[in-house]
Amino acid sequence: MLIEAATPEKTSSDQHNNLQASQHAEDIPSRFPLFSRTPNLHDHDENSMRQILRDYFLNTFNTYESLFDCLASDEAFYTQSIRLRHPLIFYYGHTATFFINKLLLTRMITERIDQHMESVFAVGVDEMSWDDLNSANYNWPTPSDVKAYRHKVRDVVLDLIDHAPLHLPIDWNNPWWAILMGIEHERIHLETSSVLIRQHKLEFVKPVQAWQPFALNQSNTPNTLHTAAHNKLIQVAAGQVVLGKEKTSPYYGWDNEYGHHDAVIEAFEATQYLVSNAEFLEFVQADGYKNTDYWNEEGQGWLAFTKADHPTFWRKNPDGWQLRLMTEEIAMPWDWPAEVNYLEAKAFCNWKKQHTGQNVRLPTEDEWYRLYDVAGISEVNNKPASANIHLDYAASPCPVNIFQQGEFFDIVGNVWQWMETPIYPFEGFEVHPIYDDFTTPTFDERHNLIKGGSWISSGNETLRSARYAFRRHFFQHAGFRYVVSGDIAPVPSSHYETDKLLSEYAEFHYGDSYFGVENFSKALADLAIKTLHTPELKTVPRHKALDLGCASGRATFELAQYFEHVTGIDFSARFIGQADKLAQGETLRYTLVDEGELVSYKSRSLADLGLSHTQEKVSFYQGDACNLKPVFTGYDFIMAANLIDRLYEPAKFLNHIHERLNMGGVLMLASPYTWLTEHTKQKNWVGGYKKDGENFSTFDGLQQMLSKHFRLIQAPQEVPFIIRETKRKFQHTLSEVTFWQRVV
Ligand SMILES: [Fe+2]
Repeated sequence: MLIEAATPEKTSSDQHNNLQASQHAEDIPSRFPLFSRTPNLHDHDENSMRQILRDYFLNTFNTYESLFDCLASDEAFYTQSIRLRHPLIFYYGHTATFFINKLLLTRMITERIDQHMESVFAVGVDEMSWDDLNSANYNWPTPSDVKAYRHKVRDVVLDLIDHAPLHLPIDWNNPWWAILMGIEHERIHLETSSVLIRQHKLEFVKPVQAWQPFALNQSNTPNTLHTAAHNKLIQVAAGQVVLGKEKTSPYYGWDNEYGHHDAVIEAFEATQYLVSNAEFLEFVQADGYKNTDYWNEEGQGWLAFTKADHPTFWRKNPDGWQLRLMTEEIAMPWDWPAEVNYLEAKAFCNWKKQHTGQNVRLPTEDEWYRLYDVAGISEVNNKPASANIHLDYAASPCPVNIFQQGEFFDIVGNVWQWMETPIYPFEGFEVHPIYDDFTTPTFDERHNLIKGGSWISSGNETLRSARYAFRRHFFQHAGFRYVVSGDIAPVPSSHYETDKLLSEYAEFHYGDSYFGVENFSKALADLAIKTLHTPELKTVPRHKALDLGCASGRATFELAQYFEHVTGIDFSARFIGQADKLAQGETLRYTLVDEGELVSYKSRSLADLGLSHTQEKVSFYQGDACNLKPVFTGYDFIMAANLIDRLYEPAKFLNHIHERLNMGGVLMLASPYTWLTEHTKQKNWVGGYKKDGENFSTFDGLQQMLSKHFRLIQAPQEVPFIIRETKRKFQHTLSEVTFWQRVV
């Protein structure tokens, strides 16, 4: 199984790429049998697909269970290894419950296995901040009860794999996706639980044959500080990278991998090796943890809270430094990668930058893909990997100079590598309906990507397309390499608008239409253009238009299909922000309330709406319609949609708007005339009250105010609009539209 074999490119020094394990690596025995690989979901008939899934499931389930053999006692299951994480008993049961929950959602099963277990093991703790205390007190089941529960779940899953109806291929929309999701989820927890075991007190863990670390004598390099491989920078030629996964890919993927992103990467330099413990020691010895100049604000906060003065897995003993592994402490392997969080890696780069005068920093995700491509890496297949990954060699990192990939070492494997890039959604991102909170909570610009995988990363985690992100102060089996390169291109925003009003407007302007009612902004713009095409108005020039009260800006873009330039103005900077974002070519992302706390995720770009060509023809400003700056004048057309009944002094607007229009220009008003004293004092209403004992409508008021400078072009007409409040609650409104031509 060779996955998406990359075409090797030559690096600048034109050395031959070595796609096999290096000479050192070949001397290292791999473990047998190999931990099974994430399956190709396309190239099999029904029977072999069932068999492959059975093997993949059992191999994962059993390996996960065996990891907990490293715990020395029941107490080790119940004691938190770090604050803000559940104790390991939770993770022991959690991966089994996850199967049940996802299978229920796809209706592959219809009943729970164990109500109690499944209530206890459903939801983990999301660490919001390191000073956020979790004092939850759980009454945990015993490890043997959890094991018995796990085995019931195993039987249910195996029964499904053997007997449930199977329609190939298994893809994103297939109910069997839940089985793959459960397996890959367990592989993620295999890794994160191994970190928790490594963070447990030594008294709670015990060495186990199946989880032995890399034997120090396997390396040809003597393990001393002075013999650790000396790192150097290697030139990488400029080139293009293409990221993203198609729904037609034969391999399981998490939601954030799908969609598309490409980038042109300038030439840069990257270190040949990951930063080793020896190299990181220079930073520690240079008082790197004491000099806050090297630490950004977030790093300083973390330092102040943790009082760290060296990497978390380092131990300072009277006879020298040691390194904590999963179940033991060993003499410091100086040639192994330094394992740190992003904040420490960043501080190291800042120190190095000051030290060398070079623009040292962490790589971006795009740069990492460039390294991957120039190194000509083949993805993990059924042979032992030419990388310390997938548990193929040992249950620990290994020296940084063993697994050569092109001119580099450990582009993939050994430990994850922190990126400068926070995780963000690719163009075309959508959440998977049965796991809508896998990635979206991490789109907050606080979770940075880690790439490359570690010695225990397996399954989906080892694919080129894998994208995982963690909080920047978080510890995984993660380290870094650094690059010398230019400034970083801005990362596409990952922010989802969750403010109710802004989200509703985003949907109102750019979202779906409901109950057959056409998008309001588009309908108004179409009506305007149709009216301007009538014989009496077709001489009106098409130079400049103004969309006053433009809100999120849809009509501005629509009108820009007809006019040379359209200005959108709104009182609310937040609405203008949405419009501006689209005008910059970015994607608007927002959540919509379905019911209660449940939301759905939406994204829209101008390209989705066929409006990309209007991007250069619009500009947006914040402004007060009753008090516009003098510069906003000379328009051929002004639209004020759903505006006048929101103004504090509509008369001021109506009595002066002609000053902004060219002679012969057209004013379009649309309003449901919903007068509310919270917006407009009653004495300022244009109409909608009794005058001299008779009804005085807003239209009457408009005629009275506008007749001095305008003629009414045609009879008023009503245009409906719908604002979605929840999945089942909508506001349906009629807006009265009138057109006025300036004649005086
Ligand atoms: Fe989980």
